[in-house]
Amino acid sequence: MASGGDGELELAAGGRMHRFPAVWLRDNCPCPQCLDPGSGQKLHDITDIPENLTVAAAQDTGESVTVTYAPDGHRSVFSRAWLACHAPAEDGDQRTEDGDQRTEDGKDLWLAADLGSGRRPEGSWPRYLAEPAERARCLDAVLRQGFVLLHDVPTQDGMVLEVAASFGYVRETNYGRLFDVRVEPSPDNLAFTSREILPHTDNPYRDPVPTIQLLHCLRTADDGGDTGLVDGFCAAAALRAADADAFELLTRNPVSFGYQDKGAELQASQPLIELSARGRVRGVRFNNRSALPLRLPYAELARFYPAYRRWAELLARPERRLNLRLAPGDCLVFDNTRILHARTAFSMSQNSAGRHLQGCYADLDGLASTLAVLRRTTGAEREERP
Ligand code: FE2
Repeated sequence: MASGGDGELELAAGGRMHRFPAVWLRDNCPCPQCLDPGSGQKLHDITDIPENLTVAAAQDTGESVTVTYAPDGHRSVFSRAWLACHAPAEDGDQRTEDGDQRTEDGKDLWLAADLGSGRRPEGSWPRYLAEPAERARCLDAVLRQGFVLLHDVPTQDGMVLEVAASFGYVRETNYGRLFDVRVEPSPDNLAFTSREILPHTDNPYRDPVPTIQLLHCLRTADDGGDTGLVDGFCAAAALRAADADAFELLTRNPVSFGYQDKGAELQASQPLIELSARGRVRGVRFNNRSALPLRLPYAELARFYPAYRRWAELLARPERRLNLRLAPGDCLVFDNTRILHARTAFSMSQNSAGRHLQGCYADLDGLASTLAVLRRTTGAEREERP
């Protein structure tokens, strides 16, 4: 039952009464004068809507609701299902979802023990290529769990670019379209040595940061070089619960990161824990190798360092770290705004060719788009949590 009381629309649907302001309805009017039928894009600007707009009448057929506005007499016909699906939140509704599934609320947070055998997001590259539903499952894992491990990707030079192209666009950087992770004689980056690398996110000195990283294993080390993954969103939620002051300091203070070599000089400043407009965890940056001197006021610096230490200790907890030994042909695809990655030190014998990974960057929006289009064809919906 719909009514146009108080110049707005009231509509009972799904056991609830929904209220729709007149300006909201008009801004979403689906008629061909308001919405281009071909592209589905709006033909009006917000300033084209009369400022004193009200709902003069509402007619409910059960399937659709026809709204007539005053003062101009314009009419909109909405399907009831569409109105129920897009209804504004109720007053006092504590829903915190920011709308794009990028915050902690759109994720399945994990500790290493949650991803034991059979529960780890993984797939096989030949099946991924052959079956759209399998491709959708693997891409969904990157959005939900933060990564997927694809097996049986041919160990050919440049294959990592094909994996990225299967769901999005390669983000070219000063490291090139792809980068080789192996021991170099005079490295510009500690990644290109055999040293241990602690959990970190890549390229925090870029804005925007690459939101997806891929690492494809071509050759393993004789000993060591194992990969570790940490769910930064799960850790951030734990920090917030354990030490709200430390959490607040890390979300409020920007940290500058930098990188330079002969051809590049990059710098970006962001908090270590980034919050959404609604205050939910939406990104982490963590990479002490490239952190620049903090330039906070003295008193804030004195508070910041203990919080930073606490955060680093929490991220380093063994129960947070999923240890993987990448085999040749394994390609890890992960969310670089959420998942920290690490590797153990490794050794090289005289006569082995040595550990060799190839990596590249891509972006979450492209992956999410590919998944949404796949779901149109496979008919699979995103499963909603209760
Ligand atoms: Fe890295």
